[in-house]
Amino acid sequence: MKRRTFLGAVALGIQGIIGCVLALPGLGFLLDPLRRSGRSRGFIPIATLDTAAFDRPTRVVISADRWDAYTHYPPGPIGQVWLVREGREEVEPKVRCYQAVCPHLGCIIDYASTRAKFYCPCHASEFDISGRRGIGPSPRDMDELQCRVTEPDKQGRRWIEVRYQEFQTGGPARRATT
Ligand code: FES
Repeated sequence: MKRRTFLGAVALGIQGIIGCVLALPGLGFLLDPLRRSGRSRGFIPIATLDTAAFDRPTRVVISADRWDAYTHYPPGPIGQVWLVREGREEVEPKVRCYQAVCPHLGCIIDYASTRAKFYCPCHASEFDISGRRGIGPSPRDMDELQCRVTEPDKQGRRWIEVRYQEFQTGGPARRATT
């Protein structure tokens, strides 16, 4: 092989390597939304166990990382849930978690302690303490979320963790949107 041809081939190879190295971050940037579209937050800690009252549901605003296409935002409010403690068991505490968004048209469900019922202020749907639909136009029960209580951490605190999801409103079927 001629010296000139050899040097040309080496230069071309070096250019190819440099091109690949420069292209990788750009490729990662472009493909990042696709990678994130399948990403689930999984279980996120939302409150310590002692935050959840025994005698009435407790509303919790959930704060977590947020993504918007190519932008990552620091933790901020992503939604609200209602926590309901079942029984007074301290060893194996049971907590249920309900999405606070009304299945009818998406208003935030409130709780009336005098009637011991959840109710929606927009169109007066009512739900019992287990989230079951009562009177009003809601097409289904309150949407229940997966929820668990952790073992005590180093400070002795037990955390309530929730797999947070949002659901479509307006129909009887429960369909997740996140
Ligand atoms: S939005 Fe809740 S009853 Fe209509």
